[in-house]
Parts: sequence; structure tokens; C-alpha cells
Amino acid sequence: MRNVAVVGVGQTKFGEHWSMSLRDMLTEAGNAAIADAGIERSSIESLFVGSMSPGRYSGQEHIGPLAADALRLGNIPATRFEGACASGSLALRTAYIDIASGRHDTAIVLGGEKMTDVNGSEAITTLAAAGDQEWEASIGLTFAGLYALMARKHMHDYGTTLEQMAAVSVNNHKNGINNPNAQFRSPITVEQVLASSMVADPLRLLDCSPITDGSAAMILMSEERAKALDNPVWILGSGQGSDTLALHDRMSYTEMMATKAAAKEALAEAGISIGDVGALEVHDCFSINQIIALEDLGFCKKGEGGKFVEDGKIALNGEIPVNTTGGLKAGGHPVGATGVRQAIDIVKQLRGDSVNQINTEKGMTLNIGGSGATAVVNIFGKEME
Ligand code: COA
Repeated sequence: MRNVAVVGVGQTKFGEHWSMSLRDMLTEAGNAAIADAGIERSSIESLFVGSMSPGRYSGQEHIGPLAADALRLGNIPATRFEGACASGSLALRTAYIDIASGRHDTAIVLGGEKMTDVNGSEAITTLAAAGDQEWEASIGLTFAGLYALMARKHMHDYGTTLEQMAAVSVNNHKNGINNPNAQFRSPITVEQVLASSMVADPLRLLDCSPITDGSAAMILMSEERAKALDNPVWILGSGQGSDTLALHDRMSYTEMMATKAAAKEALAEAGISIGDVGALEVHDCFSINQIIALEDLGFCKKGEGGKFVEDGKIALNGEIPVNTTGGLKAGGHPVGATGVRQAIDIVKQLRGDSVNQINTEKGMTLNIGGSGATAVVNIFGKEME
């Protein structure tokens, strides 16, 4: 396997884009990544795009060639990847494998979703299709409902409190204030989270990521080509895991085996341990998920995630800064774009141009699809291992 670098990144603002189609957003993000890399678009040899449900959200399938055409990339192989909210990371991981294998030398990775053109209930029904249709969605179980079950079980088994879950959202909103691409840039308090409207007991509005439009893109390159460019960031490892689609079929409601499998593979490939990771982007689609992710990745013991957050260990100056630009909660969650956006924020931390710069040599992303049936972990470093 060859070394692979990230040499350019770009994204649209995340939020509601009345005046842009999915095609427009993919084009804006893709062009921004190409410009950031400073490369000729004719040097791009393959395209990988993550999107969960463009057919239902935008009436448009087959967006691989659509993106290649919109970006004027000619007749290169162009493929869409779907793994619910982990679609973007799947596209990135596959592009990494494509270049590491020697098949191509330069690839563009895109993620995009335009979720606000349908009404709220259609947006949520479309998301629910990523759960088990027969056993969950058909009886009205939404993702907020599934994560609410996990939250209740976590509270029951480990004494996790509503205040500890609220502290996740408070941290992520605080980190979003400086981020011009974030959907919400307002600070919030624990009291505001606890007073916000109930969505699925015990999860309230401010425990939830929003419905979002947006796109994100990056350029990957082989070591041979990247050596000539400024400030490449290296992909040190990548892992993917899966689990049962239905939550009730799992051994545990408070532990994601897909995350554990993905992290194990990525850390082994990178040849590092979890303690070497200095910046972390995790999938805070609902506040409880950030707590579960910290436990599953091994930053704290099982059941201690709530306290870990409450004690400020995930703050920008904490033990492990988490979601340093706002995460899904404040940054927004255009599902297919999220995994690529997470990677962009780690790459910027390592390049030194983050809006909330911290000092670290290595960073990790955890992107989760559905209620944990897909998990992808990618690890990045300033230097090749
Ligand atoms: N956080 C903060 N504010 C939010 C918000 C959120 N997650 N979602 C909406 N808002 C705000 C809106 O900006 C709007 O504010 P305004 O009145 O000042 O303009 C207000 O709340 C109402 O917005 P609306 O779009 O009507 O909200 P809604 O009640 O239809 O939807 C949720 C809110 C939380 C139910 C919806 O965003 C949701 O389902 N989120 C989860 C998405 C999801 O499941 N993703 C996949 C994860 S696996």
C-alpha cells in the first residue's frame, strides 16, 4: 500500500440553501478543494461522492457522473457511496484505498445532501429509512427515537444525567461560534438545552443535530505526486465496521460494536494507540452519541463518558479536544457531506489553519451511519508514519 495525502479541501457553508441545488453545492465545494490544492482539474483521475438519499431529497440519483460533469472532469470513473450518515466517510475511505493500491494518483472526494427542499416530516421519514424499515421505521421509530432509547438505557445503567448530555451541545455550540461555515453560531447554556422543546424523551431540540443543506470536498494524492505540494496531511489509517440494522438485535444499547471494529482497524493500520490522537471529530447527531463514542473509542471507561464531558475534558484546552468547529450539532448535518466535513476540520487542525487552532500531530474522525450499523474511522497525521 502506498502513502496517501490530503492536498486540498473545500466546502459550502452548511445551513439552508434556498438558491442552490445539490449540483450547485457539489460544484462549489469541489471547485474550492481543487483551488485549495492548486492543481489542474485534468490531473484528477477518479471521483468518489457520498450521499445518503439524493433520490428522495432532490429527486436525483446517479450523482457520480453528475458531479464529474458539473466539475468538468471528463470521462473519469465517478461513483456514489451510501452508508446513511456515514456516506461521506465511505467515499473518502474508498478513495484512500484507490490511491493506496496504486490504481490512481489523484482523486476527488465529495459529500453532499440537500435536505431542506422536502418538508420536515418527509426529511425525517427519509432518514428513518436508514434504520430497519420492517421493525423500526414502519412503526414510527425515528432516529431521534432510537437515540432516545440509547440515552435512557445509558442513564439507567450508568447514572448519566440530562445535564451531562446537555454539556455536549454546550461544548459544540461554543466551538461553532468562530466557524463561518457553521449552521448555528450561537452559544447555548445547559439551562437552555434543558428548557428546549422535547423531541423524543429525554432528547430535546438542543440535543439534536439539525436538518441541513451542504457539501464538502477534498483532493487525495499519492505520495509520489504530493511531495511536490505544500503542506500535505497524511492519511495514517482507515477502518470500517458494521452491526445489525435494528437496535433491538444488538447485545447492547449503549455500546457500538461497529465503532470498536472500525477504530481497531484504523489504529492498527496507523500503528498508534488512542492516546496518540490529539484532535477528535465524532458523530454527535444526538448528544448521547458523543458520550457513547468517547467510551467506545477508549478515551474514557464505559459509563464515564457523561462525567468526562461534564469535567471539560473535551474542551479546546482539554485532554482531547472534540468537535473543535461545532460538530454536527452546531455545524450542521447534511448527512452525505458530514464525514468529509469532519475530515476537513481535522486536516485544517494539522495544517494549522483551523478557526479554533489547537496544537496536535494526529487527529481522528468517527462517522456513524444510522443508529450504529455503519461506522468509519479515519486517522490523519502531519507526518507519514
Ligand atoms: N438545534 C438548534 N436549533 C434548531 C435545531 C437544532 N437541531 N433544529 C431546528 N432548530 C431551530 C430552527 O432554526 C428554527 O428556529 P427559528 O424558529 O428561530 O427559525 C426552529 O428551531 C424550528 O425549526 P424547525 O425546522 O421547524 O424544527 P423541527 O421541529 O421541524 O425539527 C428536529 C427539529 C430536531 C426534530 C430536526 O432538526 C431533527 O429531526 N433533527 C435530527 C436529524 C437527524 O435525525 N439526523 C440524522 C441523525 S442519525
